[in-house]
Order: sequence, then C-alpha cells, then structure tokens
Amino acid sequence: MMKDSEQYCPFHGETGTAAGGEPPAAADNAGTQAAEQARGLAGGAAQGGKHGARFADDTRKTLVLTGASRGIGHATVKRFSSEGWRVITCSRQSFSPQTCPWAEGAEDHIGVNLADAEDVGRAIAEIRRRLEANGGRLHALVNNAGISPKSESGRRLNSLETNMQIWRAVFQVNFYAPIMLARGLFAELKAAHGAIVNVTSIAGGRVHPFAGTAYATSKAALAALTREMASDFGPHNVRVNAIAPGEIATGILSPGTEKMAEHLPLRRLGRPEEVADTIYYLCGEGASYVTGSEIHINGGQHV
Ligand SMILES: NC(=O)c1ccc[n+]([C@@H]2O[C@H](COP(=O)([O-])OP(=O)(O)OC[C@H]3O[C@@H](n4cnc5c(N)ncnc54)[C@H](OP(=O)(O)O)[C@@H]3O)[C@@H](O)[C@H]2O)c1
Repeated sequence: MMKDSEQYCPFHGETGTAAGGEPPAAADNAGTQAAEQARGLAGGAAQGGKHGARFADDTRKTLVLTGASRGIGHATVKRFSSEGWRVITCSRQSFSPQTCPWAEGAEDHIGVNLADAEDVGRAIAEIRRRLEANGGRLHALVNNAGISPKSESGRRLNSLETNMQIWRAVFQVNFYAPIMLARGLFAELKAAHGAIVNVTSIAGGRVHPFAGTAYATSKAALAALTREMASDFGPHNVRVNAIAPGEIATGILSPGTEKMAEHLPLRRLGRPEEVADTIYYLCGEGASYVTGSEIHINGGQHV
C-alpha cells in the first residue's frame, strides 16, 4: 500500500523490525549520563573534521529528524530538503548514496539505535559536532521515530500481557529518546530560536484496536511532555508542539486498518506527505506563535 515516497527511498525494506519485531532491549539510565556528557562535548566540535569542513559556511536552516528511513519520516526528509533545508537524518538503517534523492544525504545521516540510551548519547555528541558547521544552530528537531510492537499473531498487546522488556524498549524509543535529544540539543535550538515537533498518536488518547498499551501510554506521555516542554523551552524562544497522526499509510499499520478507514469522516487512510506538510508548517514562520499544541492529522477520526 501507499509508498510513492518509497519509490526512490534509499532506506526501506532492509530491517523492517520497527513495526512489530521484538525490539532491542533498552539500556539503563547510563544513557542519560551519556547524553549529559554529550552536552559537554560541544566544544570539541569546533575542531572540524569531515563535516565541519564540508559545510563550514552553511547558511541553510537545519533539521534533525529521527525515523527518517521510512514512512512519515522519509516524507518529511523530502519535504524539508525540497524547501532547501539541510536535514540530519537519524535511523538504524544506513544511507544508500546510489538512490539518494537529496544532496549531502550520506554526509548528513547518523546511524543510531534509539532503543539504546548509550547510543542516543553518542548520537547527540555527533549531531552537535556536525552542527558546528551551521554556527551551532539548529532550527528544528522532529522526534518522529517510534515503535509499536504487536503480539506474534499481530494482535494488540494489552496491559496484562506486555512484558517488561517491551515496555522499556517502547518508552526508550518513543518517550525517553525525544527528551534526551531535546535536552542534548537545547543550546543549538536556543541559538536558532528553533522548534521541536514530537510525533504522538491518536492512540495516546483512546484505546485503539491495534496499538498496544505500551505504545499508547508512551504517546500519551509524549503529549504531556510536549506541554511541559512548551512551558520550559518557551522562555528560551524554542517552540514545542506535537502532531498526532491517525491512520497513515506506512509500514507501522496493522492489517485491517484500511477497513477502519472506511468509517472515518474522510473515508481514507492519510498519506505520509500530508503529515510532513503539517510538520513543515509547525517548524516555520507561519507557526511563530504556536507552542504547546497537539495537531490531529487523522481525517476526522477524533470526532
Ligand atoms: N502510520 C501511522 O498511522 C501512525 C499513526 C500514529 C502515530 N504514528 C507515529 O508516527 C511516527 C512515524 O511512524 P511511521 O508510520 O512512519 O513508522 P515506520 O514506517 O514504521 O517508521 C518508523 C521509523 O522509526 C525508526 N526507528 C524505529 N525504531 C528505531 C530505533 N530503535 N532507533 C532508531 N530509529 C528507529 C525507523 O528507522 P530504522 O528502522 O531504520 O531504525 C523508521 O524510520 C511514529 O512515532 C509513529 O508512532 C504513526
């Protein structure tokens, strides 16, 4: 289904574990220390290196985007790239330069496992190093990566049967990684009067037939975190909003979702590009007085 965004997608179809496979075990709070260390490593970035030299006078706006390899994230890469932004992409899958649709894609990709808190800390240090080329400014951070594990038969994992390994992995990827990145990149966001967009879900506000309990509660927590962050980051001129997609045609959906879509007011699944449009709006000047909001992108499903 869908995927005109994937006709020339350099990433998709290689690991494919995000939607339902057993997620990697989460790391303990050592990763928080790693992130804190990363904050202190910024000075080292001025030493340059390949990326510093490559973009030494880069004046483009810059986006850091997680979950860039497929689905909504991939459509978002293309939207921002076509508008002239530099996009630093983050995902576990590596970048394929042969089929890359945007310039400097390979240079701006960072492989990271967000389920591993230590690795998130390492990635933050690397992102900060690369941002030195932009004068240490970051205009937008989009926390889009997410996992939604299902049972082996594809059923919703309810609160009685979800094991603790899954709870921890889901919260690490869907909830802790966004706040680790936002805090780790705070100085750069502040310097650019930047914007953060957290990708939540309609499942954060109601029981969903396919989305599991851990997923739903992680998204509810991320929505609450967006509100808290808007209050805390706002005085530093950093806006923080969320988007809550409904049923968007990507690999994360469960079989049978098309049937659900027949009952939505707009009678169809959403397209990743439609979500990317809203993310783009929230990161731009048109949304300069919008913070602490969560925008539904669901064809009217919430009504
Ligand atoms: N599609 C929908 O209907 C829908 C509805 C509500 C909310 N959402 C939310 O929208 C966001 C994007 O969803 P999507 O449908 O585009 O999902 P998707 O097609 O399954 O893509 C998920 C992305 O997250 C990345 N990812 C997953 N686990 C990761 C990890 N451990 N470390 C680093 N990256 C990781 C994947 O990259 P790699 O595999 O390369 O690492 C991939 O790029 C998610 O937060 C999801 O919860 C989607």
